[in-house]
Amino acid sequence: MGRYTVVITGASGSVYGLRLIEQLAVAGHEVAVILTQAGREVMAYELEFDLPTEDTAVALTRYLELPKDTQLRVAYECDLFDPLASGSHPVDAMIVCPASMGFCAALAGGLARDLPERAADVALKERVPLILVPRETPLSLVHLRNLTALTEAGAIVCPAMPAYYHRPTTIDDLVNFVVGKVLDLLGVEHGLFVRWGE
Ligand SMILES: Cc1cc2nc3c(=O)[nH]c(=O)nc-3n(C[C@H](O)[C@H](O)[C@H](O)COP(=O)(O)O)c2cc1C
Repeated sequence: MGRYTVVITGASGSVYGLRLIEQLAVAGHEVAVILTQAGREVMAYELEFDLPTEDTAVALTRYLELPKDTQLRVAYECDLFDPLASGSHPVDAMIVCPASMGFCAALAGGLARDLPERAADVALKERVPLILVPRETPLSLVHLRNLTALTEAGAIVCPAMPAYYHRPTTIDDLVNFVVGKVLDLLGVEHGLFVRWGE
């Protein structure tokens, strides 16, 4: 089974990150989750889900209705002593979903000021697959240059841009499309959308 890191930043669309965590956990993978402070606040606003700072993994497991034996761990934004801060800690892939423009700028600048930035910086240097799911519109030249630099450094930019050719009828359908594309990139099987031609 795989070992994945999922970061939820303060871009709109924490629902994408939560659906991704749910899918990876249900598929039996080990998932380490980090939320930035802005990520927590935007999630509380958009989903009315105020993740507690203690027993966070238990609260997340309950919210996502995951089985009790789910391998879910929550690491803390300010904890630079967490294993995820080191390249010696094995990880199969890291996904920042949603990824704020602020996060992308910090990563493109190599700042590594906190655990999410450091873990992503480590993924780039160790050539561990790093998928960024930005959500911003329109995009400024600064945003585009940062996303270009990150692509050049090896990250995959997979924007939260749902398609309409599968004829979505609910918000869930739109969320599932974006998360399904991320799972496709990871090579994780899913049934989140019907593929074109099937
Ligand atoms: C309700 C709300 C929605 C936001 N949506 C976005 C967004 O879609 N994309 C983005 O890049 N920033 C968005 N922001 C701004 C980020 O939260 C802000 O830049 C923050 O500093 C990002 O911090 P982080 O990268 O540490 O999570 C939003 C902020 C709020 C309060």
